[in-house]
Amino acid sequence: MSVNSDPVKVMKREVGIAAASRVESDSIVGLGTGSTTAYAIEHIGKRLESGELKNIVGIPTSFQAEVLAKKYGIPLAALNAVDRIDVAIDGADEVDPNKNLIKGGGAAHTREKVVDSLADTFIVVVDKGKLVDRLGSTFLLPVEVIPMALAPVTRALKKLGGNPELRMGIKKAGPIVTDQGNLVIDVKFEEIADPAALEKTINNIPGVLENGLFVGVADLVLIGEIVDGKPVVRQM
Ligand code: A5P
Repeated sequence: MSVNSDPVKVMKREVGIAAASRVESDSIVGLGTGSTTAYAIEHIGKRLESGELKNIVGIPTSFQAEVLAKKYGIPLAALNAVDRIDVAIDGADEVDPNKNLIKGGGAAHTREKVVDSLADTFIVVVDKGKLVDRLGSTFLLPVEVIPMALAPVTRALKKLGGNPELRMGIKKAGPIVTDQGNLVIDVKFEEIADPAALEKTINNIPGVLENGLFVGVADLVLIGEIVDGKPVVRQM
């Protein structure tokens, strides 16, 4: 096992490479955010460099994705400059058996939802630790909120039965700030019984930009796991 023999990194790398291997020449590719997608971006770059892949345009879902795409030589375009996205590759924080997701661990879920939901094929790349029976069981639900509405949105989320917490920065005093200049509230719900309804209800709170529930967006979920000491990728 490589990647310093960290099994989670090994799983992320394998699944990222597997997704990148599915990208075809002459396509517009949504580039997701996070440590798993980073391996996919790197592999797309390598395929471009070797000449195996040609004529790719990437649409980044975050500043992180943009920086990585530039590093690995993937030409980029703004979403407004293209009329379609053929395929998007992105990670997730939780995946349920219906391929519904919680995203936003990297605070990029707003742009991710725009790009991933526009793609003809949205491929989710996760290690098997992300699989859950019910959304919300291991991960808090991220909600992006405009700063001036922080207090009322926090109250509204409590009214919905959630336990909201403003996400604070690491090696940064104060809260984290998204690529759009907003804040993120992470919400613990005892149970998310109806993800589709909760997604809509939260987005209806004035001041909320987007929440991390992705319902009915994923087309394909690729899962990296270790079997008999070896990394394998399977399809959900
Ligand atoms: C970014 O906001 C998230 O939606 C990521 O896609 C998600 O947190 C997965 O990240 P990792 O691949 O780093 O686990």
